[in-house]
Amino acid sequence: MPGAGDRGAARARWLGTGLLGLFLLPVSLSLEVSVGKATTIYAVNGTEILLPCTFSSCFGFQDLHFWWSYNISDTYRILIDGTVKNEKSDPKVKFKSDDRITLEGSTKEKMNNISILLRNLEFSDTGKYTCHVQNPKENNFQHQATIFLQVVDKLEEVDNTVTLIILGVVGGVIGLLILILLVKKFIAFIIKKTQEKKKECLVSSSGNDNTENGLPGSKAEEKPPTKV
Ligand SMILES: *[C@@H]1O[C@H](CO)[C@@H](O)[C@H](O)[C@H]1NC(C)=O
Ligand SMILES: *[C@@H]1O[C@H](CO)[C@@H](O)[C@H](O)[C@H]1NC(C)=O
Ligand SMILES: *[C@@H]1O[C@H](CO)[C@@H](O)[C@H](O)[C@H]1NC(C)=O
Repeated sequence: MPGAGDRGAARARWLGTGLLGLFLLPVSLSLEVSVGKATTIYAVNGTEILLPCTFSSCFGFQDLHFWWSYNISDTYRILIDGTVKNEKSDPKVKFKSDDRITLEGSTKEKMNNISILLRNLEFSDTGKYTCHVQNPKENNFQHQATIFLQVVDKLEEVDNTVTLIILGVVGGVIGLLILILLVKKFIAFIIKKTQEKKKECLVSSSGNDNTENGLPGSKAEEKPPTKV
């Protein structure tokens, strides 16, 4: 009799673990949204930029809801909103806030790409762009990923390595030139000092010899450069 009770408790524990597993599964293997590796994208005003967004779902999806939002300080608005019927169909846009925005990419063949293209960029387009995905198959749990767009009037440092190499080379050359100049100046200084010493010796010796000769004047003329 006690054995049956133990078995019952063990079964309950197993059932509990099983239910917990079922409960945890959707959380750990759920829909994922990605905007790629870059957290900030720089783009030039007047040009266009693709804001990437892809998602993956191991459960598959049905009537998936997606939208992009824009946010900066106290402004928040929905840019585009739509649905994807299933894995075999492309997204349907239901709302769009601006003609400059188009939905790119495809959701067919596991592409799951709901990137948007922003044309005719203005400086005021700078801000946070968030790609949201909601899957009814997952209790409508919402997933999102954010990318920051910075609109600039020209792109600097297109290639960091090249810039760094150029900077390094330029820096090295400038450093070398400065070093050469310093060495030259130092040598000139030494030469001048030794010459001045010689001259001072000459002047003082000649000054000692004849003070009314006008030689002290030439000494005064020579002094200012040493002060500079
Ligand atoms: C970007 O903005 C600058 C400054 O307002 C302007 O001079 C330039 O023409 C703009 N570029 C484009 C491609 O619109
Ligand atoms: C927009 O961004 C600000 C911070 O930049 C944040 O405090 C605010 O909650 C965001 N608004 C929404 C609706 O996400
Ligand atoms: C998404 O679609 C756009 C437009 O076709 C494409 O440029 C981009 O490379 C795609 N992104 C991925 C991750 O496939």
